[in-house]
This record gives sequence, structure tokens and C-alpha cells, in this order.
Amino acid sequence: MDFAPDLLASLRAARQIAVFTGAGVSAESGIPTFRDAQTGLWANYSAEDLATPEAFRRDPVTVWNWYAWRRELMRDARPNPAHQAIARLETLVERVSVITQNVDGLHRQAGSTEVIELHGNIWDSICADCRQPAPAEAAIEVPPRCPHCGGMLRPAVVWFGEPMPADAWHRAAELSERADLFFCIGTSSLVEPAASLPRYAQSCGRPVVQVNPEATSHDGIAQHVLRGKAGLILPALFDAAWAEAGAAGGRSHP
Ligand code: OAD
Repeated sequence: MDFAPDLLASLRAARQIAVFTGAGVSAESGIPTFRDAQTGLWANYSAEDLATPEAFRRDPVTVWNWYAWRRELMRDARPNPAHQAIARLETLVERVSVITQNVDGLHRQAGSTEVIELHGNIWDSICADCRQPAPAEAAIEVPPRCPHCGGMLRPAVVWFGEPMPADAWHRAAELSERADLFFCIGTSSLVEPAASLPRYAQSCGRPVVQVNPEATSHDGIAQHVLRGKAGLILPALFDAAWAEAGAAGGRSHP
């Protein structure tokens, strides 16, 4: 796999790298992306039908069961070479900030230490009424009840029509302004406002690197478009950048 010399040089010179990811970075862990047709029982639903406060109010059992199904899909999933390469990047660059739309927790599992989960985390539950976090594992009821107020529990994820956590969004925007390189990996860039981050980074003069087997609307703003699977491209790219510099796994900065 060949990479542009200026991209390799930019990687080695970078002090801060922002890595914006979507469902595609977890595809090689066996987790279906959102734009993949849903399978089996859920074939007649789309994420947009189920991941909303209205759907939960209307039919909490179906929404809760959909997330239970997604958790089961993810339970055996492990970080793939893309997550691992992003985590290893921290040993090569001063600061690597992962800004993910994914709720599967695989970046942290891979060892990434700065992970901003714009859309929350599917493994956590909160009360739909008092918003307090609550464990749901041992529950029998569907959905489980809040131990604090008796309300229904829901997954601690951001639904369509809900705002992202304000602090997560502000941190993501700040990182997009300052990154020496802004990677956009495995996202169709269809869901706002998360999808505006690569454009914002580019508007702040930050070089955007797109990694996706398919074209997206962000190809046009990317300084580098790496067409292919993240699990293949990222390890090869980082090896090429640092092997060439002879920095066997060490940072190129003191
Ligand atoms: P999508 O399913 O919309 O897009 C997945 C992207 O990953 C597509 O562009 C694929 O081409 C690409 N892809 C597939 N396999 C890949 C691989 N091996 N390596 C790299 N890229 C690959 O998922 P998202 O863009 O993450 O929102 O969707 C964004 C949001 O829409 C999600 O966070 C969710 C969803 O509805 C909420 O739940 C609020």
C-alpha cells in the first residue's frame, strides 16, 4: 500500500491528531453499520424508527429489545486492527483524541485513552425520567425500572432529535480547531451535527484525512482520501510513516 509522502511527513510532524470515527471503524469487528440493512427481526425497522424518544414513549418494550439485540451483537465483538492502530498511535504522537459516533466502547477496549463518545455508550443505562444512571443487567422487567424513582430505564445513548452531551460537543469542536491532522474514518457523514466536524476542522485550516471504502460528501474537503477498509489502511499507514523515519514505535518528538 503506497501513501503520499506529504501525508507520512504530516503524520510524523503531528503533535495533536483528532480521529473522528463512525460505525465503519467497527465493521471489521463484526458490528453491522447503520446503513447495512438490519437483519432478521429488525429487518422491517430502521435505526431512525427506533432510536428516538418518541419511539421509546410509544413502545418502550420494542425499543429496549432492539438495544438488547444490539448489545448481544456487540457482546462478543473485539477491537479490530483499526481500533488497535488508533490506540497504538498514542505511542507515536503526543496527543491522540478519538471523537466517536459509535456507542460500542471498542476504542477504549483497544486502549485509546482520550475518547469522546458523542452519541453515548450502549452498555450504560439511565432513567428516562430522573436521568440518573442505573444498572440494568440483573433486571427482569422490560424495560427495567429505575431504583431511584421507579421510572423506565433507557440506554444511555443519544437518540435522533436529542442534543449531544454539551461538554462532549465543545471538546470535539475545540479538538477539531487545533488538530494537526483530522482523520475521518468509517462514517457516511449523514447525521448532523456530528457530521459537521470534518467540515469545521477543514474550515479551521486543519488537514482532513478520509478513510472509507466508499465515497462520502467529505471526500471533497479531504486533503487525503484513503479508499479502503480502516482495518487494513490504518496499520499500514502508521507503519509506513514511522518505519520510514526509523522510529521503531517511538515518538518522533522528545
Ligand atoms: P453509517 O452506517 O451511516 O456509515 C458507515 C460508513 O462506514 C459508510 O460510509 C461505510 O462506507 C463505511 N465503512 C464500512 N465498512 C468500513 C470499513 N471496514 N472501514 C472503514 N469504513 C467502512 O454509520 P455512521 O456514519 O457511523 O446515530 O452513522 C452515523 C450515525 O447515524 C450513528 O452514530 C447513528 C446513526 O443513526 C445515532 O444513533 C444518533
